Amino acid sequence: MTTAQATSNAPDDRGMARLGQIIAVASGKGGVGKSTVSTNLALALAAMGARVGLVDADLYGPSVPGMLGIETGKPPSMSPLRKVIPAQAHGIKVISMGMLTGDDKPAVLRGPMVAKYLQMFMLEVEWGTLDFLVLDLPPDTGDTQLTLAQSFPLTGAVVVTTPQDVSLKIARRGIRMRLRACNGSMFREP
Ligand SMILES: Nc1ncnc2c1ncn2[C@@H]1O[C@H](COP(=O)(O)OP(=O)(O)OP(=O)(O)O)[C@@H](O)[C@H]1O
Ligand SMILES: [Mg+2]
Repeated sequence: MTTAQATSNAPDDRGMARLGQIIAVASGKGGVGKSTVSTNLALALAAMGARVGLVDADLYGPSVPGMLGIETGKPPSMSPLRKVIPAQAHGIKVISMGMLTGDDKPAVLRGPMVAKYLQMFMLEVEWGTLDFLVLDLPPDTGDTQLTLAQSFPLTGAVVVTTPQDVSLKIARRGIRMRLRACNGSMFREP
């Protein structure tokens, strides 16, 4: 995990600095515990006294609101600066598609809209100043991973898998895809 550079379409450094250390929780495989790990990681960091945000980047299958008991389907309030006010749950700030649409309604989004929502979740939410921003990624290696990997400098990633060969293989492939997508510049020094 080296280099401090963000890729060319990255937002400016000041905005990024306020988000703190950005940690992605990923796996190419579905249902292996990404959201459980993301949520518990965020809560554990908050319990240690850190200021923590959690982005539910699984736009098609948001499960963080359910895990944290956050109300869904009710659009969040906007700040005077037209930023989205995140939900507060158990000491962390949270944004999720489930808050906007309800967590049992399908999000019908094409690729460009996925990128727009992710940019909004990262940059147009009133996060304040954070120590850590944890990203709960969806179970694929598609638009979400590419957008986040190429637009935001991640401090690190947690790759979740189960012990089975099939799951390990998919998780390894996901790691290789992410490294390739970032061309080695995905990570920055903590
Ligand atoms: N360590 C664990 N041991 C047993 N069950 C677990 C563990 N972690 C998560 N689970 C259970 O596995 C299921 C899937 O977990 P979770 O939703 O966190 O996975 P996910 O990888 O985020 O899924 P998706 O790919 O659909 O987003 C849940 O029912 C969760 O309670
Ligand atoms: Mg999940």
